[in-house]
Amino acid sequence: MHAHPEGQTRHEDVGSPPQSQPETFASVLQTYISQRTLLKGAASSRVLTYASSLLGADVEAADQGFTPLTHSTADQLLVPPGCEAQILIRWGDPIIADMPGFDPRGQTAAKQARQFGYNNDFIGFLPLPFGTCNSDHGLLVVNHEYTNAEQMFADWDGKLENKTREMVDIEIVAHGLAIIEVQRDSRGVWSYTFDSPYNRRLTAESPMALSGPAAGHPWLKTSYDSTGTLVRGTLNNCAAGTTAWGTVLTAEENFDTYFTAAIDKPLDASTQTIHKRYGLRDRYGWARFHDRFDVAKEPHEPLRFGWVVEVDPYDPRSVSIKRTALGRTKHEAAAVVIATGGQAVVYSGDDGQFEYLYKFVSSGRYDPTNRAANMGLLDAGMLYVAKFRDDGTGEWLPLIFGLGPLTPANSFHSQAEVLIHTRRAADLSGATKMDRPEDVKANPKTGKIYAVITNNIRRKPDQVDRANPRAENKLGHIIEWAEEGGEATASTFRWELFITCGNPHNPNDQTFYQGHTAASWMSCPDNVAFDDAGRLWVATDGQPSSIKKNDAVYVVEVEGHHRGRPSGQRKQASDRPSLRMPLLMCQSPRSVRLHEILDS
Ligand code: FEO
Repeated sequence: MHAHPEGQTRHEDVGSPPQSQPETFASVLQTYISQRTLLKGAASSRVLTYASSLLGADVEAADQGFTPLTHSTADQLLVPPGCEAQILIRWGDPIIADMPGFDPRGQTAAKQARQFGYNNDFIGFLPLPFGTCNSDHGLLVVNHEYTNAEQMFADWDGKLENKTREMVDIEIVAHGLAIIEVQRDSRGVWSYTFDSPYNRRLTAESPMALSGPAAGHPWLKTSYDSTGTLVRGTLNNCAAGTTAWGTVLTAEENFDTYFTAAIDKPLDASTQTIHKRYGLRDRYGWARFHDRFDVAKEPHEPLRFGWVVEVDPYDPRSVSIKRTALGRTKHEAAAVVIATGGQAVVYSGDDGQFEYLYKFVSSGRYDPTNRAANMGLLDAGMLYVAKFRDDGTGEWLPLIFGLGPLTPANSFHSQAEVLIHTRRAADLSGATKMDRPEDVKANPKTGKIYAVITNNIRRKPDQVDRANPRAENKLGHIIEWAEEGGEATASTFRWELFITCGNPHNPNDQTFYQGHTAASWMSCPDNVAFDDAGRLWVATDGQPSSIKKNDAVYVVEVEGHHRGRPSGQRKQASDRPSLRMPLLMCQSPRSVRLHEILDS
């Protein structure tokens, strides 16, 4: 899911076609008020049932019991007949006991820190009790990636300089993640436990630790953390992953948008070089009230973001940890695979135009009998970046201090510096520059890996390669690869384009995609997940601008005769595990925004 801060186009979509302006809080609120009577009955319930959108059936799919939806521009969530979506929880719903219901005109930072946030790009379900496969009761970990002040504050005029301290402080704690206990009743209706001891919010103010090779490096020290190991909060958490040992890896993505770009005093050369490579551009105006977002005052603070953060939802007292061994990028996704040798392997994209795909392989081995022993697994290991060759082979290039170009001759003096300035290390290594890597997932049935490459309109004709085959790539594609020998730790792989998005009836679009109905083609894929049957679920983010249709969720077969073709949803309950998941899954946006502010 993408960011729309301050009424601008998506800040991570550098170069993307402009979107229509999001609605303001006032207009949404007015709509809400006018419809309040209509919705009152439903709004009084903790769980609302609405339609969501699910596309992607073909002729065979209909035979299997899945009736497709066609592309839509309707201002509502749609689901195919027989499917159901429900709103489990909304922005402002209290998740800590003793909080009153949401009051959109009475917001405070203290309240927001105990309420659910919004702009969700990740939902992780972790069964309760720990260690079971229970699918009716568990913990839900949901990210709150960014804030849209124009939708939060009715009286704001849209100017950063007119944000109040209270507005800024509310935004700061509206970021982060929420952990809530959820359960499904005998009717199949999901709800969350209002006062569960597991419920908590992690925000951009929550104390967190830095661990791994870069922890304690001078570049990570600030005026209020002389150790370089303690951080206030997490920012712009995007797609994420769950580990085999029951933690969540949340990826800090567009951290650059929170820090002042204007630097009115010289920074040391190293810090300046790093900031230039990642870019800094203040879209929130928080530095007016908090020095740590002012790079002139705290030049190292941005270096403490852009990490993969490990969260333990099962321990409400645990401190989340930024695992520096996985590198510092605008991380999107953290897909975890346990290799046959027991190493933890984590795949992650760097969501920027011409950025890279990464893989981390732990030195230690996962111990299924000793949860505590796995908690440090991501602190030591090897970070690699992907090189896709045009002949369909690929190589994982190690980012190791002292190896190849990563030496003092290129201003690297330690592994910590390689990890803090990961993008430059990848530049020097000769990795393949991709069209904005988003989510990454491993197929649990085949072990193949799928990376979503959402779009990149800045790619010129002379910059195309087989892994990024389109100039001015507005529609995106999905890459599939198999590690050599099926070993997740392998240093080489074989890859191919799985889906090249777009209308298969358009010769300019069709490369691999086999969908052949009006409903079954997509653009701008963003998030992916596998169900137990090995089908790939794909959520798009960008179709309103790229093809003038609502974003949607597609289900795609990855193997066999229907490979690359949207799948049917079979009738057998045992064969449709994804429908058992709580759903906040579709984002026909305006409807979602309206209901997010409903006050029960
Ligand atoms: Fe937060 Fe790249 O999506």
